[in-house]
Parts: sequence; structure tokens; C-alpha cells
Amino acid sequence: MTDAPILKVVDLSKLFGGVRALHRVNFSLNPGELMGVIGPNGSGKTTLVNLITRFVKPTSGTVFFKGKKISHLPPYKIVRLGIARTFQMVKPFYNLPAYKNMIIPLYSPRMKQLASGRYGDRDAVALDLLEEVGFERDAFVAYKVAGALPQGYLKRLELAKAIALDPDIFILDELFSGLSLAEVATIVPIIEKLRMAGKSIIMIEHRLKELFRIADRVIVMNFGEKIADGLAAEVMASEAVKSAYLGTEAD
Ligand SMILES: Nc1ncnc2c1ncn2[C@@H]1O[C@H](COP(=O)(O)OP(=O)(O)OP(=O)(O)O)[C@@H](O)[C@H]1O
Ligand SMILES: [Mg+2]
Repeated sequence: MTDAPILKVVDLSKLFGGVRALHRVNFSLNPGELMGVIGPNGSGKTTLVNLITRFVKPTSGTVFFKGKKISHLPPYKIVRLGIARTFQMVKPFYNLPAYKNMIIPLYSPRMKQLASGRYGDRDAVALDLLEEVGFERDAFVAYKVAGALPQGYLKRLELAKAIALDPDIFILDELFSGLSLAEVATIVPIIEKLRMAGKSIIMIEHRLKELFRIADRVIVMNFGEKIADGLAAEVMASEAVKSAYLGTEAD
């Protein structure tokens, strides 16, 4: 019973005019699994995230969450069911303090569903969540307007907004991009903690070394198709992957 996948993607495709952004992609995510998604620029990784979360309507194919079809639902209903994503391109409310940016997830219906005393004082919860992802409380970083924060904090804010929703599945689209090695090293334990709490995680990443250290499994995208799916070590060794992707990786 626990073997049933939490997420199942079946023949998912997206055409943008003549551009085949995604073509018949299939995979299952098991509960508690951390799956990496890698592939060159433009290979369809963000499109895959957009189709699962329904920010973009699939041309064809189906997505199942806990055995139920979700690919016809609008994004807000998908969030409510328990799938949260972060964005590759962060777009916070730049004029609001970081902790006020947490208002959106903390006032969402998902929070009402999960209602507990913890969510009574939302500003306090926002500050707690931001501290969890590395906003140093004694330096009052959470009170700075988002527009004054460097990329590292904006990425952490993205993560905190997703954590606030207490989803079953996190989909993290290039959370590590634009971050220093030291910053990545401080975020990895946060992700590991989510795993310990039983969360399922999909990480889209270009930072392969850091990803392969924490991923159970990796799928590889190339020109909108999934070209490999397996343990990180197996995928690294595959010739198709080397020629499609690793040759283009700077390091
Ligand atoms: N809204 C859109 N309209 C038209 N074409 C799009 C749209 N979104 C994505 N595409 C195209 O679909 C393809 C896949 O793009 P996508 O953003 O999914 O790639 P990616 O793997 O996330 O790339 P990156 O690593 O640069 O983030 C690209 O050719 C892109 O130009
Ligand atoms: Mg992308």
C-alpha cells in the first residue's frame, strides 16, 4: 500500500506553437523520494513543473496525485491538495518586507485546512519559517524589503513560502542557481530535514554535484524528452546522458 506512487506523470506533452517543449514524458515519484531532474537549457524542465502544477495547460497527457487525476485542476486546487513549487525566476513583492511576503501562503485556504494554533499569529509564524531557512533573526534580515535582499535570501524566501504550505510534494525549480557553494551548503540540511519529515521532493538542478549528493534518483531531459531515469550513479555513467548533457556542463 505504501508502494503506490504519490505522483504519476503519464505521456505528458506540451506544444508551444511549433516548439515541442515536452514530449510524452512518463515517471512516477514514490512517497519520500528525492528525485532530481536535469537536462540542458531549454530541455523542458520548467515546462514539466508548469504542467504538473497546471500553471500551463498540457497539450496531452495526465498527472495523478495519490492516485487521483489532477491535470484538469487549476493551480490553486493543486496547491490545496498538497503540491507546492518554487520558481526559477523569483518574483517577490519587492516593496514588502521579506516576512510580509509570507502572507500569501499563510493566508491560503491550504492553511485553513491545516488550521492549528500554530497559524494564529501569522507574522510570528512567518518569522519562524524564515529563521528555519536561514534568515538570521538577530540581524533582522526578515524585516528588510525583499528588493534589498540578495539572491540567496530571495531563494530562501521561495523555499519558506513552499514550506509554509506544508505540502506532501515540493517541486524546487533551480533553487540552487545563483547561490554560492557556502549558501547551498546551508540549504541542503533544510532539504534533508524535509525528507526526514517524509516529504517527497522533485529538484530541478543544474548544480549536479550538489544534487547527486542528496538525490535518490535522477531523470534526464533532452529536447523535451526523458532520456534517462535511474540512480544518480547509473545516470551519470550513461553514454546518452554524457553526450546530451554533461559535455555542456562547465565543471
Ligand atoms: N510560454 C512559452 N511559450 C513558448 N515557448 C516556450 C514557453 N515556455 C517554454 N517554451 C519553450 O519550451 C522549451 C522548454 O523550455 P523550459 O523553460 O521548459 O526549459 P528548461 O529545461 O527549464 O530550461 P532552463 O534550464 O534554461 O531553465 C524551450 O524551447 C522554450 O523556449
Ligand atoms: Mg527552467
